[in-house]
Amino acid sequence: MKKVVVYPGTFDPLTNGHLEIIKRASKIFDEVIVLVAKRDEKNTLFSLEERVDIVKRCVSDITNVKVDKLEKLLVDYLREHKINLVLRGLRSYKDFEYEREMFEANTIMLKGIETIFIIAAPHTAFISSSLIKEIAFNGGDVSQFVPKEVQKRLSEKLRR
Ligand code: COA
Repeated sequence: MKKVVVYPGTFDPLTNGHLEIIKRASKIFDEVIVLVAKRDEKNTLFSLEERVDIVKRCVSDITNVKVDKLEKLLVDYLREHKINLVLRGLRSYKDFEYEREMFEANTIMLKGIETIFIIAAPHTAFISSSLIKEIAFNGGDVSQFVPKEVQKRLSEKLRR
């Protein structure tokens, strides 16, 4: 049976840290679905459509990676698509408590799902989307931390 995993997140914006996790996962699973969460409560810089478009462009060369939107609870998406594997990246021990809470909540809401964690490579472990936005908005160079497409889209936002 095909092993399909979903990698959910806000991706506001996608970073090299996320991309590293996606690339490694694409070698383990038959199919990786990057699930871009709406998250209105996060007051995102990029709209859901923009975030989906950015991720699609950045993963277009990886054949077994797909991108979809998450506009409902993760468990409802999993139930609807009959998927039971969730992937998350772990950057440091600081991510662990939050991930444990999400894992427990999601597992209680939908029995039978499994969350798989990939430990982020050390050179990406400090990266977060907020940090990228902070550097960009203060005139810093984010080229080492994000794909070229993200760099371009951030510059466009800054010009507006
Ligand atoms: N590289 C770079 N950054 C990483 C990273 C990595 N490997 N791993 C985590 N991060 C950062 C993100 O950049 C983000 O940074 P920010 O807070 O500065 O924006 C932060 O960690 C949060 O991670 P993210 O992957 O965006 O997840 P999230 O906290 O927004 O979680 C869900 C999204 C949907 C997976 C989670 O909220 C969940 O499971 N919720 C259950 C309830 C539900 O289903 N909600 C649906 C909402 S539509």
